[in-house]
Amino acid sequence: MQVVEDIYEAQKTFEELRQQGRSVGLVPTMGSLHKGHVSLVERARLRCDVVAVSIFVNAIQFNDVNDHRQYPRSTEADLAMLASAGVDFVLLPTDEQMHPKPMNVLITTSGAAELLEGVHRPGHFDGVATVVAKLFIILGPGLAFFGEKDFQQLVVVRRMVSELHFPVEVVGCPTVREPDGLAMSSRNLRLAEADRAKAPIVHRAILAARQAYAAGETSGRGLIAAMYEILSSVQDLVIDYASVVDPQTLKDVDHVKPDSRLVVAVHLGSVRLIDNSAVGGD
Ligand code: PAJ
Repeated sequence: MQVVEDIYEAQKTFEELRQQGRSVGLVPTMGSLHKGHVSLVERARLRCDVVAVSIFVNAIQFNDVNDHRQYPRSTEADLAMLASAGVDFVLLPTDEQMHPKPMNVLITTSGAAELLEGVHRPGHFDGVATVVAKLFIILGPGLAFFGEKDFQQLVVVRRMVSELHFPVEVVGCPTVREPDGLAMSSRNLRLAEADRAKAPIVHRAILAARQAYAAGETSGRGLIAAMYEILSSVQDLVIDYASVVDPQTLKDVDHVKPDSRLVVAVHLGSVRLIDNSAVGGD
């Protein structure tokens, strides 16, 4: 496994790989890796000759300075995990090289990006789109793998790829969960013990809405009520949103279809958790 910090060295290496006709798959991450990230690597491994992972805690996508400061970092453990997952190449760029100062260029996102997370994390998706575009330009992957865990991010990245004509296939990968249903996330490490015990409620709320749909409830309002009923049974849990949305536009839907998306964001202590699922199941 080759580990490279320098963006220009990485760019040159990948230009050569493409010239040799090797297919390149990229898994962008912010490190503090877990089985969710590894599942993306495994999917990339199945489809690409060369699997590249980037680890970069992208300051410009954090709207909250404390969230950025407290974001867990574990580069050595990450590299060991990636090596045993069969990754070929890791890009570990510096802030200075990735976002040279003054930073005068930023991709602006709108539409689906302005809803849900966009309301609660202003500027977040502009930061995501900008760094993902830079990674695509540096490494030139033919395929890029993103988790459905961050469903809105997947939608925004697909839109960016389409509007900016990146020759990249975006592959969405299913959410990997803890045995109790909690979606794996680097931020789970920051949950206090009592909050960690409460956290699976988010997935349980989604499952309750799925069950209500399976039992014949087809109104958005009915499914939202089913989620609120579960979520509001937990003390000290603050709900940012619990909605049913169209999987492309992310606008609220009232007449629900199997591919409509249940989306939830809550706070437990200082940690914000998000989760989602298709109404008809994943
Ligand atoms: P990060 O949170 O590190 O996630 C990297 C990738 O792993 C994302 O595509 C995310 O959706 C996926 N992922 C995280 N948890 C997962 C889980 N439990 N199951 C399946 N996939 C999961 O998302 C980012 O980083 C950043 O925004 C990034 C795209 C790297 C841009 O900075």
